[in-house]
Amino acid sequence: MRSSDFQDVFLDTTDSTNRVARELGEQGAAHGIGVLAACQTAGRGRLGRRWYSPSGKNLYCSYIVRPNIDLHHFPKLTMTAGVAAAECLHDVYKIEIGLKWPNDLYIGSKKCGGILSEFTEDHYGNTFAVIGIGINCNQKSSDFSAEIKDIATSLLIAGAENLEVTELFQAIKSSLLSTIKDFESKGFSEVLKRWQDYDLFRGSNMVWLTPDGRRVEGENLGPDTDGMLRVKDTEGTIHLVLTGDVNLNNPQ
Ligand code: BTN
Repeated sequence: MRSSDFQDVFLDTTDSTNRVARELGEQGAAHGIGVLAACQTAGRGRLGRRWYSPSGKNLYCSYIVRPNIDLHHFPKLTMTAGVAAAECLHDVYKIEIGLKWPNDLYIGSKKCGGILSEFTEDHYGNTFAVIGIGINCNQKSSDFSAEIKDIATSLLIAGAENLEVTELFQAIKSSLLSTIKDFESKGFSEVLKRWQDYDLFRGSNMVWLTPDGRRVEGENLGPDTDGMLRVKDTEGTIHLVLTGDVNLNNPQ
C-alpha cells in the first residue's frame, strides 16, 4: 500500500486509538492520518495510567505525524500538540483553555484533556510519532465518577454546547499540522512562545514527584528552551524536570 492510500479511520469502539494509529504508521500511513473512536476499552494516559473513555461523549483520537525535525526533537511534539489543541479550542470554540506541563489541558483549575505522544519506527525504517489526544467534550458534571468529579471538567461545562466530536477531530488535526509546520520552519522557540501564552501554573508552588520516588517542592519557573520544566526548590537550586508528576502544592 502506498502511504497516500491510507485514510482517516473512524471506529465505534477500540482498545486504544494510539494502538490503531501505531499499527497504521508501521505500515507506512502518511503524515496527518488520524484515528477517531467513539469509545475506548483500554484508553491509556501518561505514566502508564488508564484513560477513562466512556462511549459517545468525548474525543478520543490519535494522529500519525512524520515531522521534518531531528529525532532528538521528537519529545517536544507533546508540547507542540498542546499548543495546537489549546489554540484550536480557544480560537474556534472560544474556550478559556490553559496548559499544564507537559501534556494537560485545563479549564480553570480542572483537567479537561490530555495528550499521549509515542514514537516508533515503521517497517521502512522511518521514525514517526503518534499523537493521542483525549478531550472531555459533552460530559455533564453528573457523568463524572466520584473519583474524578472534583478534578475533571468538560467543554460542555465550560459553555460549548452542541459540540460535534468529528468536527473537533478535523479542527485539531488542521491546527496540529499547521503548528508542526511552524516548528519545522521556525524552530521550537516559536512553539514555546505560544505554549507560554497558555501556561497556567508558571509561578505556582509545585511538588515534583521524581521517577525514583523523591519529592521536590518549589516554584514552577516554566519550561526551558528545550521544553524541560524548571522547578526552583526552597534552597534556590533549579531542577530540570524531564518526566514524573508535577502538581500544585497543597491545592485546596
Ligand atoms: C494523559 O493526560 O495522561 C494523556 C491522556 C491521553 C488519552 C488519549 S485518548 C486517545 C488516545 N488513545 C489513548 O489510549 N490515549 C490517548
